Order: sequence, then C-alpha cells, then structure tokens
Amino acid sequence: MTKPYRILAALMSLCAAGNTLGAKDHISPIAIVAAKDGKTVYVAGHTSRQVVIMDVAKAKPRLVTVPASPTGLALSKNGDNLFVTVAGPAGGVHVLDAKKGKVSHSLPTGHTPISPVLSPDGKTLYVCNRFNNDVSVIKLKGEEQPVRIPVLREPIAAAITPDGKYLFVANHLPVGSAHSAYVAAVVSVIDTSSGKVSASIQLPNGSTSLRGLCISPDGKYVYVTHILGRYHMPTTQLDRGWINTNAMTVIDTETLKALNTVLLDDTDLGSANPWGVTCTADGKYICVAISGAHELSVIDQAEMLKRLKEATDPEDVCNDLAFLVGARRRLDLAGNGPRGLGMVGTTAYVAEYFSNSIGVMNVDPDASPTPKASSLSLGPETKESVARKGERLFHDAKLCFQQWQSCTSCHPDGRSDSLNWDLLNDGMFNPKQSKNMLLAHKTPPAMSTGIRPKAETAVRSGIAFILFAVRQDEGDAVAMDEYLKSLEPVPSPYLVDGKLSPAAQRGGKLFYDKKVGCIKCHRGKLYTDLSMYNVASKGKYDRTDTFDTPTLIECWRTAPYMHDGKYGTMKELLTEGKHGDTHGELDKLDDKQIDDLVEFVLSL
Ligand code: HEC
Ligand code: HEC
Repeated sequence: MTKPYRILAALMSLCAAGNTLGAKDHISPIAIVAAKDGKTVYVAGHTSRQVVIMDVAKAKPRLVTVPASPTGLALSKNGDNLFVTVAGPAGGVHVLDAKKGKVSHSLPTGHTPISPVLSPDGKTLYVCNRFNNDVSVIKLKGEEQPVRIPVLREPIAAAITPDGKYLFVANHLPVGSAHSAYVAAVVSVIDTSSGKVSASIQLPNGSTSLRGLCISPDGKYVYVTHILGRYHMPTTQLDRGWINTNAMTVIDTETLKALNTVLLDDTDLGSANPWGVTCTADGKYICVAISGAHELSVIDQAEMLKRLKEATDPEDVCNDLAFLVGARRRLDLAGNGPRGLGMVGTTAYVAEYFSNSIGVMNVDPDASPTPKASSLSLGPETKESVARKGERLFHDAKLCFQQWQSCTSCHPDGRSDSLNWDLLNDGMFNPKQSKNMLLAHKTPPAMSTGIRPKAETAVRSGIAFILFAVRQDEGDAVAMDEYLKSLEPVPSPYLVDGKLSPAAQRGGKLFYDKKVGCIKCHRGKLYTDLSMYNVASKGKYDRTDTFDTPTLIECWRTAPYMHDGKYGTMKELLTEGKHGDTHGELDKLDDKQIDDLVEFVLSL
C-alpha cells in the first residue's frame, strides 16, 4: 500500500480550479467587487495569490498577499471587511480589513470555495464549495459551526434575493448519464430559512459551463450565464451556432421557474464563453463579460423582458440568434479574458484575466453613446511564458471562425463539459464524451478510440477541425501543448486531510489485488498502461470495440464515465455497467467492497 500513498503525496500540491498556477508572475484577476462609494475596487489575483486594492481615482493598486489562490470576493455591509475565498482542499475565507489590507482571521469552508455572498442583513455568509458540491452557511457572529447544504455539481456562482429569502446557486456542470435524452446543468434554489434546496431549475438541453449568476436590483429576476451546446449535431460546421451557442437564462424569483433562455451570439458572430453577469444599479442594463471574445454584452433589461413576454414561439427563443438584435450592444474591451464583473452606478469594472488589468466602461448610452473601454493596470507588464500564452489561446475564441467557441467551451478549466460530442475524426454519428486534458500529453494515444497518436496531434486537429481556425500557427499549437502539460491535478475531495479514508484504503487493496485485476490495465503512476482493450463497452453507435485505457487521476471530477458517458456515477459503472464486462473479478465483490473500490478510485 505504499504506492498509492506516494502518488497521492505527489498530488498534494496546492492547486486551484485547474487553472495552471505556474503563472505566478501574472496577477490574473478573476473576481472583482467595488466599494459602494465607487472609490475603491477590490480584485482577486488568481495566480499571484494576491488581493489588489485599487484606488480608482489615482489608478494606484495596492497588493496584499493571501495564503492561497483567491477565487471570489464579497464586502461586509459597512464596507469595512473584505471576504476572500481561496482555493485548495481546505479552502477557507480570509477576512481582510478593507482599508488596511490586513488579514484579521479566517473562516473554515470546504474544497475550493468560491462566490461568497453576504445575506442582506450582513449576518450570514454563504460560500459555494465547488468540489464538495455543497454550500457553507457561515454565521459571522457567535460560535455556531457552519452548516453545509448539498447542491448538485460544482456550485460556482451564487446570489441572494434582496429580501434574503432565496439563495440561487449555479451548478457548473450537468449530472447523470450522457445517454439521457436531456443533459443540462441546473440552478439550485436554497430556501435560507429552512436551509433546504426548495427547487432545482433545469436549463435547456445542452446547458453546461455555468459561470455567472446575478439577481436584478428589484429582486425579480435571476440571470445566469452558460454555454448551450448543440451536442446532438455532428461537428461539421460552425455557422449559426451549429456546435456551441452562448446563452443567458432568465429565472423568475417568484415562481422559481426559468422564464426562458436568450442567446448572446449574433447570426454571424458568436459571443463565446460568457462569464460574469451583473446589472447596473438602476436595473436598466444587464452586463455580461464575454470571456472568449473580450467584450461586454449590454442588454436593455426592459426591452428583453418585453420581447420575452410577447414571444409568439417561446420554445424557440433559445434558438433565435436574432432575438436580442436592437436590445443589446456589444462593446469591445481593451483587455483580454474578462471574467468577474463589478458595478458602480452604470460603470462596469471588469477582471481582465490575461492582461492583468481592470477594464472600466460606463455602459449608460446617455452618458456615453459610443463608450470607449479603458483599462487600469494592476502592475508592471510581465513577459508571457509559452504556457501562459497557451492558456490564453485555449480560452480565446478569436482563433475560431466567427468566434463561436474556444477550446475551453468543451474543456472548461482544461477538463470536460460532460457532454457527448460527435467529432469527425472517427466518422459521424458515434458521439463521445469530452475529455479531461490533464495528463493528455503523458498518456498517448489520444481520443478514446486512440485515433490520434498523441495529444499534440489532437491539439492541432482541434484548432483546424473544431475551431475551423482561419489562422493556423504552429507557435499557437506549441503554446497550447505547454499549457495543457502544465495542468496539475486537483486533490480529490474524497481524501481526508490529504490521505485516503479507511474505506478508500480498503478499496485500494482490492484495486491492487491481482485477482480483482484493475492493475492489469490501470497500471503504474498514471493508472494506465497506455494500451487499447476491448472491455465490452462498445455502444450501439460505435464502429470499434477497443478503447484507450484512461488514466484514473481526477476521475472524481469527470463523470459521466466511459468513452460514451453511459454511466452517471462510478458506482453505476462498476455495478450496472460492470465496467463494460472484462474486468477481472468484479462480479465476486460484495456491495460493501464495491463501495470501497469506488471510494478508492474517486480518491485518485
Ligand atoms: C465541440 C467540443 C470540443 C471543442 C470545442 C474542443 N474539443 Fe477537444 N475533445 C472533444 C471531445 C469530445 C474529445 C474526446 C473525443 C474522443 O474521445 O474520441 C476531445 C479530446 C481532445 C484531446 C485528446 C485528449 C486525450 O487524452 O485523448 C485533446 C488534446 C483535445 N481535445 C484538445 C482540444 C483543443 C486544443 C481544443 C481547441 C483547439 C479542443 N480540444 C476543442 C471536444 C471538443
Ligand atoms: C482489460 C483492461 C482493463 C481492466 C482489467 C480494467 N480496466 Fe478500467 N478501463 C479500461 C478501458 C479500456 C477503459 C475505457 C473504456 C471506454 O472508454 O469505453 C476503462 C475505463 C475505466 C474507468 C472510466 C474512466 C473514465 O474517465 O471514464 C474507470 C473508473 C475504470 N476503468 C476503473 C477500473 C477498475 C476499478 C477496474 C478493476 C475492477 C478496471 N477499471 C479494470 C481497461 C481496463
């Protein structure tokens, strides 16, 4: 049993959501919050592990180092304290004196906390624990232990209604088998008085990669940004959003139902990778950061709601690329990779991840009919490493024909979007799960059918045949290789203080037992012998019956399982699915042993 321990120890390096943290020279602003008076904005510097306190008038940044990679920010009611969530298995919220920039104390959370939200009375802090699939409820005064409320999968953004009654939580990815007729992520609604989930609001089929969520200032609507993948179509073309469209769903806070979903794209120009969303203080405009196209989408709220009400075919709104024409402006930003958004009146502050800057734009058309974006620099320019360039390009839809998507559209954070896609490398009408990019370069061949000899080939064919790139540059592909190689595994949420739980230890013994047979193929440090096998997992659409043995590292975060995502959970894979069927002695294990084995594999 020394083997898994050694490997796990090697994995225990602190990592964030999966963004490479090698880029310490860069600040990488990811989240932003503005003081009420608008004089100061606070920025989470994701890779430099800093919080930036920016005096807006003087354009002067003050950098405060925090113990781990910050993921989200919230201000206390009087603006004196700043709550900073930081990544890592033990996570935590660091409470900073907002003026002095000193950490006063820390609050415990789960794994990779993100999107801290303060209750309107200022007494309770809610935090999404992304990799524990739950939300911490932290009472700021008194001795009460934080309560954890389970949601569905990778809660990533939250907002509370002005009356404090409901907390809306965006789950990043869909749950369940990719064979279901309907695969989509949901928004969980927590009733704050009972501490229970009172509704799960399903988004349209193909909704994935939820990133931002906000509530209109009047408390009537929730806006949530996401990708709407047209995964049931073969990826033959991009025109008119054939593969991925980019969307915002509108939820009614009274009925707790989705009103509809609008597309942020235009007929011939995509708005790839929507991220942060927020409203102007007067509620007139909804602003969405379009992280793949480096712009702000500014939607006239009243006009959009009127159109939704009057829509003759409401079911078709989520397919209508012209729906927002005339009700929305697309404004170019000066920086690259906008993510989090803050707002003072009608001035948007934008965390520009790849240019280490804050974009500033007054989006009120009366104040500035043709607004010009400017950026406040967060520090001196640093030279971009090759891996950092690759990370930027992986997230950049400008590479793509009509900027419909970027690599990250199907590989969020360099992982998988949980959808089955019908790529053309192995013929048509045989869809496969998107893959985790972690270790892809160390585990040839690439693709589940092994059709690409190595990941390098897959990267180049992705640029040519999935992005239909107009410009193809070997330097870009090399940079993407370097970025993907730099990805580090995130420690599993199944580990207890970084170690295997007792159940996982028992499961590990079974895994390494020659009779059970897992190590016949899932061998060595990376849990794969890099070979193709027929494990009787061929589905009705497949043309081949042998598949590449995948690494099992990080498979706690890559459900659904197998090349076609047939199994929604690890237990289903090993029981109902019997791992295809050629697996050694899986049949001879009793239910408890299966649970132990599941626990072990999910701990890798
Ligand atoms: C439309 C969704 C989609 C987009 C966009 C996309 N991919 Fe993929 N990618 C997939 C799917 C699906 C697979 C797995 C296919 C299979 O197993 O046959 C995959 C597999 C890969 C693999 C192989 C990994 C392995 O270990 O076998 C690499 C590398 C890869 N993609 C890189 C990229 C890059 C780089 C881009 C952008 C240029 C990109 N992808 C864009 C869907 C997508
Ligand atoms: C004969 C070789 C072989 C043996 C033995 C084997 N596997 Fe696999 N395993 C594979 C192959 C090949 C795949 C991919 C199949 C596919 O994609 O359809 C796979 C897939 C998986 C997956 C899904 C990973 C993902 O990301 O979708 C898990 C989990 C897994 N195996 C665990 C196990 C466990 C646990 C055992 C022991 C009970 C085991 N395997 C035994 C070859 C093997």
